[in-house]
Amino acid sequence: EVLKILEEHGFSAYVVGGALRDKLLGKSPYDFDVATNARPEDVESLFKDCILTTIGKKFGTIKIKYREFEVEITTFRSEGAYEKNRRPQEVSYIKTIEEDLKRRDFTINAMAYSEKTGLVDLFSGREDLEHKIIRCVGDPELRIREDALRILRAIRFTGSLNFKIEENLYESIIKNRFLLQNISKERIAMEFNKIMLSEKPSRSLNIMADTKVIDILFPELAKTVGYNQKTPYHIRTLFDHLLCVTDNVEPKLELRLAALFHDIAKPETLSIDESGLGHFFGHDKLGSEMSKRILREYNYPNVVVEKVGILIESHMKAHEEMTDKALRKQIRKVGKDNILDLYDLMIADRYCTLINRDVEFLKVRKNRVEELLEESTSNDKFLSVSGSDLIEMGFKEGKVIGEILNYLTE
Ligand code: CTP
Repeated sequence: EVLKILEEHGFSAYVVGGALRDKLLGKSPYDFDVATNARPEDVESLFKDCILTTIGKKFGTIKIKYREFEVEITTFRSEGAYEKNRRPQEVSYIKTIEEDLKRRDFTINAMAYSEKTGLVDLFSGREDLEHKIIRCVGDPELRIREDALRILRAIRFTGSLNFKIEENLYESIIKNRFLLQNISKERIAMEFNKIMLSEKPSRSLNIMADTKVIDILFPELAKTVGYNQKTPYHIRTLFDHLLCVTDNVEPKLELRLAALFHDIAKPETLSIDESGLGHFFGHDKLGSEMSKRILREYNYPNVVVEKVGILIESHMKAHEEMTDKALRKQIRKVGKDNILDLYDLMIADRYCTLINRDVEFLKVRKNRVEELLEESTSNDKFLSVSGSDLIEMGFKEGKVIGEILNYLTE
C-alpha cells in the first residue's frame, strides 16, 4: 500500500533489501525498506500522519509506521566516497532503481520488487538464494573496502540463513579482516548481537574463527580456539565447548554472551601472569572481570555488562548440595531477575560436557528455585534483604547482621 500511495503520486517505488529477501525465503517480515525516486520532503508530506522519525533525512531516509509495520522509505541514492571504511557522510540522489541496487552489499540483498515491474534482480540474487550463497554485488574486495562491517554481515547472513560464502568473498574476508579495526565498536556490537541472537550462533562463530576475524574482534576468545581441554569429559577444544553452550541457551542477549565468554579465563589459556590470577581468584571470578572489560570496550549498556558478569561469576555453583536456606541465599546474591538464567547457563554448561547426571540434578534444583521465587512474591522477606542492604540501613557490619539474616532466612 505504501508503494501504491507513492505510485499514485507519480513516483516509482520498490520494496528492497532484507524484507524482500526474507519474503522470498518464505518468512513474514515486519520491517520493510522501500526505495523510491521521491525526495525525502515529498515522502514527509505524503505520509505526514505516520512519521516515526526523520533522523535519517539527510541520508534520504524517512521512517514511518504503517499499520503494524515499520517502513523505511529511502530516496534512490548512490553513496559518496567512503572515508576510513565508514559510512559516507554525503549521499547523492540518483534517478533509477538499478543504480540504487548496485551500491548494495550482497546479491540476495540487492533485489527490488514493485507490482508494476515485478522482481528486479540484476545480480542473480534469486539464484543465489536458491543455491544458498552469500555473494557480493561486484568485486568483494571493493565492497569490503567500502565498508568493512560487511565482513561481519557476510558472516552473519551465512550463519543465520545456513548459507555458504562465495569463494572470492571468503578470500577477501581473510585478507581484509584487519579493516574491522576501523569500524566503530557500536556498529560491530550491533551486528555481533544479531549473530548472538540467531538460531545457531556457532555457525557464524565458527566462520569467525576459521577466517581469524575473531582474533581481531575478541582476541581473548581466539585463545580458546586451539585449546584442547585436558579433562576427559569435555568435547574437543574449549572454543567448541563455548559454542555448544551458546547454542544451547535461550536466545537472550545476556545469556548468550555469558555462555560464549563463561570459560574465557580457564587458567591454561592465559599468560603466565594472568594464569596466576586465574588460579588465585578462580576462572569464574576472573572470567567475569575479563568479560565485563570486553563488553565495556564495545560500549554495551551497563545493565548488560553487569548481568553477564554476575552469570559468569556464579556459573560454577553447580555441584554442592543446597538446602532451601542456601538456595534463598543464592537467589539473593545473584538477584531474582538473574537466577533462572544462571540455572539455564549451568544446565547448558553440563549438557555440553559428558556428565549428564548433573543436568537432571540441576533441572530439579531449578524447579525448586522457581517454587521459592513464587513463595517469595507472597512473602517477600525471604528474598529481598541482603547484608549490604542492612549496612545501608545503618546496621554496623558484624555479627548482628549475620543474626538478622539468619532469622530472615530460617
Ligand atoms: N546494506 C549494504 N551495506 C551495508 C549495510 C546495508 O549494502 N553495510 C544494504 C543491503 O542491501 C541491505 C539494506 O542496505 O539489505 C538494509 O540494511 P539493514 O537494514 O542493515 O539489513 P537487512 O539486509 O535489512 O537485514 P536485517 O533486516 O536482517 O538486519
